[in-house]
Amino acid sequence: MESKIGAGMTLTQEAAQRRVADIISAIPVVLTEYRCPLCARVFPGYSGLREHYEAEHAGAIAPIVVMLMLNGKGCEVLIEPHWTLKRTLQFRLGLTGTKHMCDKGVCGSCTVIMDGRPVLACQILTAECEGRDIQTIEGIAADPKWKPLIDAYCRWDAMQCGYCTTGFLVTAKALLDRNPNPTERECREALAGNICICGTYPRHSQAIIEAAAAMSGGGVDG
Ligand code: FES
Ligand code: FES
Repeated sequence: MESKIGAGMTLTQEAAQRRVADIISAIPVVLTEYRCPLCARVFPGYSGLREHYEAEHAGAIAPIVVMLMLNGKGCEVLIEPHWTLKRTLQFRLGLTGTKHMCDKGVCGSCTVIMDGRPVLACQILTAECEGRDIQTIEGIAADPKWKPLIDAYCRWDAMQCGYCTTGFLVTAKALLDRNPNPTERECREALAGNICICGTYPRHSQAIIEAAAAMSGGGVDG
């Protein structure tokens, strides 16, 4: 399956899969430099940054290091203690598939899976995520196992502007993890926390049910 992304440019799903896999593998496992967010000085170790804060920015709250288990890979991140997981994913790690919309826990656009449950990344502090198992849309898109779900979303055209779609897909993946054969009602209930301004709601359930059939070996007609 391929998509037109601009004049003369075509992005196949395989190319997109490779691209997100590259983005994930480019995230460093261990920090090798520690940049002061206030004055941009760089230190080779965390203790150097802490000492710098005490000497130069007394009274300011120093950044902290958190170890995330992200898409099956451990990675250290240097963040400010008040940062949400959504902010860390987008601004520190370049995982922009976790979308910013309401920032109030209402729309579901920032959904990620944490320890098997869909959660809202705009409502969780990164500092609370130490050692938790987190899956983002990038990890799902890079995993060939979930290609039938993405194919089904494309086949059913379950998007218009597409801004909310990654949040829906993450919620759908969490549903299929715990219920590989959901009914339409179960799909609707699972997606109740995801809002689409473009009104694509009916197609999501159809896409998920089709993906469930394909993943259980039932295949897809047409
Ligand atoms: S941006 Fe997190 S729920 Fe809307
Ligand atoms: S497709 Fe536009 S907000 Fe859902």
